[in-house]
Amino acid sequence: MRMIALLLSLTLTETVSANAFPGGDAKAGQRLFEQFKCNSCHINMYGGDGSAIFTRPNSKVHNASELIAQIGRCGGNVDKEFSAKDEQDIAAYLNRYYHLK
Ligand code: HEC
Repeated sequence: MRMIALLLSLTLTETVSANAFPGGDAKAGQRLFEQFKCNSCHINMYGGDGSAIFTRPNSKVHNASELIAQIGRCGGNVDKEFSAKDEQDIAAYLNRYYHLK
């Protein structure tokens, strides 16, 4: 019984630490992403719904801080200075493509 409890707690820890943006709310991030038409440029560049920019082989994003930095830069593209919370939310949403840990 104690073994099961131990295994269970290890599994839970694993799930939590596997999320690179624990404070991010992916749903709120998606709303911001759509509100600011983030993919408008990306669509011009990559076609489709634009999301191919996130999975391109030469992606600029290799870790959580690079994703946050790029969201900040691209926020400038839409004349918006995102709060740290907004950036976490958008990152949590975009992590569906990046799978950052
Ligand atoms: C004015 C055009 C434009 C808008 C609007 C724009 N982007 Fe971008 N985005 C770019 C360009 C150009 C790049 C490629 C930058 C590079 O290669 O250095 C890029 C790249 C990115 C990347 C990195 C892709 C990768 O993996 O290499 C992310 C993440 C991103 N944008 C997020 C956003 C978000 C979030 C928004 C909305 C707030 C947004 N972008 C709005 C032009 C735009």
